[in-house]
Amino acid sequence: SVHVKKRADYQPPAFLISTVNLTVNLHPTATRVVSVLTINRQGDHNKPLVLDGDKLTLKSLLLNKNDFSDFTLSDEGLTINTDEDTFELEIHTEIDPKNNKALEGLYLSGGAYCTQCEAEGFRRITYFMDRPDILAVYTVTVVGDTDLPMLLSNGNPVDKGQIDDGKHFVTWHDPHPKPSYLFALVAGDFDLLSDTYTTMSGKEVALELYVDKGKKAQGHFALASLKRAMKWDEDVFGLEYDLDIYMIVAVDFFNMGAMENKGLNVFNSKFVLAEQASATDDDFFNVESVIAHEYFHNWTGNRVTCRDWFQLSLKEGLTVFRDQQFSADMTSPLSNRIKHVRVMREHQFAEDASAMSHPIRPDEVIEMNNFYTVTVYDKGAEVIRMFHTLLGPEGFRRGMDEYIKRHDGQAVTCDDFVAAMQSATEIDLSHFALWYSQSGTPEISLSHQFNAQTGKHNFTLSQTTPATADQATKQPLYIPVAIEIIDEDGNQYVDEQGLINNGLIILDTPSLSFSVSATTEKLTPVLLGNFSAPVKVDNPLETDGLLTIFTHGKDPFNRWDAMQTLYSRCISALYDDVTAPIEASLWTDLESAIKSEQGNLELLGECLVIPTFETLCQTRKDIDVARLVAARNQFCLLFAQQLSKVLNHIFLHIDTGDYAYNQSAVIARRCKNVILAHLARLPEFEHVVVSQFDNADNMTDSLGALKAAQYTRVFETLMARFETQWCHDALVLDKWFALHATQPKDDILATITMLSEHPQFSLGNPNRVRSLVGSFAFYNSEKFHALDGSGYKFVTDYLLKLDGINPQVAARIVTPLTQWQGFNADHQQLMKAQLARLLNHKGLSKDLFEKVSKSLAYD
Ligand code: ARG
Ligand code: ZN
Repeated sequence: SVHVKKRADYQPPAFLISTVNLTVNLHPTATRVVSVLTINRQGDHNKPLVLDGDKLTLKSLLLNKNDFSDFTLSDEGLTINTDEDTFELEIHTEIDPKNNKALEGLYLSGGAYCTQCEAEGFRRITYFMDRPDILAVYTVTVVGDTDLPMLLSNGNPVDKGQIDDGKHFVTWHDPHPKPSYLFALVAGDFDLLSDTYTTMSGKEVALELYVDKGKKAQGHFALASLKRAMKWDEDVFGLEYDLDIYMIVAVDFFNMGAMENKGLNVFNSKFVLAEQASATDDDFFNVESVIAHEYFHNWTGNRVTCRDWFQLSLKEGLTVFRDQQFSADMTSPLSNRIKHVRVMREHQFAEDASAMSHPIRPDEVIEMNNFYTVTVYDKGAEVIRMFHTLLGPEGFRRGMDEYIKRHDGQAVTCDDFVAAMQSATEIDLSHFALWYSQSGTPEISLSHQFNAQTGKHNFTLSQTTPATADQATKQPLYIPVAIEIIDEDGNQYVDEQGLINNGLIILDTPSLSFSVSATTEKLTPVLLGNFSAPVKVDNPLETDGLLTIFTHGKDPFNRWDAMQTLYSRCISALYDDVTAPIEASLWTDLESAIKSEQGNLELLGECLVIPTFETLCQTRKDIDVARLVAARNQFCLLFAQQLSKVLNHIFLHIDTGDYAYNQSAVIARRCKNVILAHLARLPEFEHVVVSQFDNADNMTDSLGALKAAQYTRVFETLMARFETQWCHDALVLDKWFALHATQPKDDILATITMLSEHPQFSLGNPNRVRSLVGSFAFYNSEKFHALDGSGYKFVTDYLLKLDGINPQVAARIVTPLTQWQGFNADHQQLMKAQLARLLNHKGLSKDLFEKVSKSLAYD
């Protein structure tokens, strides 16, 4: 039976658990868990105690140390009938980590035991009130064979010793009360990197990073990143680490990126390991960002946690915002902002347009794991960023201080966060708070009339939010819109009404009007600087207006965005008629635009990126995939042909110097590789691709060459050489799998089937599955959407197999199939047919059921 949980149904817990004493006796298929709980009835009632449990074998139960039998057991848990108000419960269970392929609860990753408890995995370890508002102090004894030398859990080690039969134990105590989802246990044989960090109040913290044997050299960057994150949180938010030891363990089998368990983070090794030869600049960036994200959770998530899972964005939106600010400080604000906006436009807008549309604080959930979404995380971070914009850095900091002061040690709600922010500002945030409950992507548009008689430009800025799958009617939101008004020479104008304050206008009604006096007829409004709100913009500008923004706009994000709009318009025109001529002046304009930015490789590199197919999908309806792909390819080809001279000139003059991972080198490599991908579309540049591949001394350039080679005849040859070189390194091969899977070639399905037999491939490893099958479904648009239905069917067949093993990963990969709304009827019909196959499958997981059934019900 499928149970829908509703936010409105929240009830405070009937009991509290104040202490947890766990003993975990590790065994691959029969791990014994003894849990001793101190429990207190809350208030005056005689309800039974209901504990969650999933895939557990109950061995015995004691209440106040006596055998106890007045309980009922179900698939979902254990109900204890007692009238005691304060009691001790001792529960003995047995679990099977080896056969836990869903990677939730306790499982084996390679030879190491590890746990993943968020959101509801602790119930797969022992019976418990597995909800985030039960905060308890944990003492954990891990017992294991001596061939597992490292036995870890949360907090500080307080005892250890040998047990007679070749076993040993370590006892850990975590003094900070925490919810069960932050529990962690790791046992294995790792290489250890150690360091220390002295906090701002002078406390020395031991830092320990555990990686697979032999991978020590790949761990230094992560450890250095951790120290930078610890320092940054002190400097920017005054937040200091609170235990004597901080541990990070990298494992190969992991459903998500990483997990912020108190004092013992568990990471997907992809977000820990990084060195020059095998990691790209993006990998280094992601390692630093995820390390920081999990560290920042120590305050925003752990010390102040969520009352219930509907409040997930309370910790995730806030922590993503914090890691974004950190990364911007460590690298550069512009390229970071562009990254965020790409995620919003490619993925979050698509989610909001689909049956899975939900507010950043969802109202209804079947499987919580389905709500670790781009909406909760990334749109959630955009909402936090708007607080930051409205309150300013000092106001935001005051609000954060107040939030921590009020709620340290508590499990709270998004409303509590808003209230803390409210205490730090005169602005009334009650209307703004609608961002928490209203889903969908608002669209703002600007109309512009010039009255030559009066010399007045009249502007009307309006907003509308289209209905979404979950909400039929929408209200106007409170939207901070950054705006500049410039003329052809870049002079700035202000409005006569004074609605624009410091470049910001608040759009909090369906529309508002303002006027500007100017002698020139040509005024260009520049909207949504720095992407000041997560909305779509319709600013009806011609090419010359877009080029004015590129040339004279103050905000670099707007300058980049103007070019994106320009490209997107051209591709649209080609979509309507693929033989439509593009005005020759466009190429000369682009050439001078490119030349003018030669000294700014960061902006230039980003401006040379053509919007992806996925981004273009969000700009139109009723899409014929083959046609959109052809239009985009045609534009890219023309772009390369028309601009090859200037691009090649810049390419040859970019000096990337000796390899280093630092900002200027990253920018130079990025720009070079973006240009190489353009040039590679022209046969005469094939040798440049090969030569970069041959001479690269770092993964960024190797992979840049391989990606560019996709458009050349040498692709297969270079891929084969790459495989020979990297066959021992699964994380590197993930890149190789993904490159294969995104090839738009006719026999791609046969290739993927063949690759799934590769010695390094494993259906049980989420990274491998995402690289091969996920990349195909998400990014091989042409073949995934083939009109014979073969791509949809292939992914569906695969999901049917995967769902029985790892439903969480299956439910991620099904996403592109559920997002049929943007495509034309032919595509839609084929996609829905495969969704129906999934829905009819006996024993479908609730993860897939939730997404598939919603998708089919939406029209
Ligand atoms: N809290 C983790 C993070 O944001 C993500 C854990 C998600 N786990 C899951 N099973 N959905 O870093
Ligand atoms: Zn997080």
